[in-house]
Formats: sequence, structure tokens, C-alpha cells
Amino acid sequence: KSIVILISGRGSNMEAIVNAGIPGARIAAVISNRPDAKGLAFAAARGIPTAVVDHKAFPSREAFDAALAETIDTHGAELVVLAGFMRVLTDAFVRRYEGRLMNIHPSLLPSFPGLHTHQRAIEAGVRAHGATVHFVTPALDCGPVVIQAVVPVLPGDDEDSLSARVLRQEHRIYPQAVRWFVEDRLTVTAQGQVRVRDEA
Ligand code: GRF
Repeated sequence: KSIVILISGRGSNMEAIVNAGIPGARIAAVISNRPDAKGLAFAAARGIPTAVVDHKAFPSREAFDAALAETIDTHGAELVVLAGFMRVLTDAFVRRYEGRLMNIHPSLLPSFPGLHTHQRAIEAGVRAHGATVHFVTPALDCGPVVIQAVVPVLPGDDEDSLSARVLRQEHRIYPQAVRWFVEDRLTVTAQGQVRVRDEA
């Protein structure tokens, strides 16, 4: 299956997915909304086509999303993977890729949608935190949960120590979620729950 990965920055989740070498997965392109995204260099060095669709060059979200979709479709994506992609997408964009658009969010959703999740988890005093891979639906940081990883919040944790602990798990669960998708093992029930079929 052809996969397009969208990034905005470092791209370590994209790297983890590329390095996983998932059988049957072809990384068709890595696209960034920021020309200076660090992850673009890694992708290019691996011979993966890269593109920049700079949101600053468009007058509206609709115009940006339309250009982004056009670029994605040029590469014939069967799965679109948001990996640290820091733009809110329009409903029209999300609907266009419904069922084949995934995101990773650094919290145990539905806790802590939005930004600064690690700091907010520390301030809330929760003992467990983590990351969630989910199919994207129009509401922000919502949608059927594919896989989650749980990490402890330890006494003395700060944003850096906690985010590093979570990130290690992100690099494990995102390739796993993509692998399941590529193996055609994921279905979403009418109630919005993801079922993972047993390996054939
Ligand atoms: C990750 O923590 C991801 O969950 C969040 O932004 C960060 C991106 O990191 N949405 P990277 O660009 O994949 O290294």
C-alpha cells in the first residue's frame, strides 16, 4: 500500500515508520507544511520523494487543504499518516480521506486533547499518561482509537522527561498501527470502535 506521511518538524515518528520497513508498505512521499522541517532531510536521504506545501502561501485553510490534497493525490496515497503535523485540517479534507487518515497524539485520549499534553498531565497529577494512534474524524484529536501506549508519570518528572518516555512508545505504536492498516486488519464498527483482526 502506498503511504504519504505529513510532518511539520523533527519527524521522528516518520523515521520510525520508515525504519520499520513494513512489508507491503511503500512510503510514496513525505510532505511538510514547513520548508524548514528537519524530517525532510531524513526522507530525502532515504530516497523518499519530498514536497513542501507552505501554509503561509495560502489565503485560507480551505485553499491550503486543497493544495495539500492535490499533492497527496499526486502520489496516490492509500493511507495518509499525520506524524507531528501541526495544522488543523478542514472537515472537507478529513472527509476526503475518511478511514485512511491516521494521527498520533501524545496523550491517552480522550484525556488531554490539544497542545502541551505532557505539562498538563503533570499539572493534573495523573499517574498514567501515554500516546494514542487514532483515525481522524472532523473533531480535533478525536476519532476511533487504533492503539494506545501507557507510561507512568514518575515523581520528579518534568515536561522533557515525560515527553521522552512517551515518544519512545510513539515510535513503537505508530509503526504497529500502520502495519495493521497495510495488512488490512483494521475495521471500524458503527459505534466507532476499531477492531484488529487476528493475523491470517
Ligand atoms: C509527537 O509527540 C507527536 O505525538 C506530536 O508531535 C510530536 C511530533 O514529533 N503530535 P516528531 O515530529 O514525530 O518527532
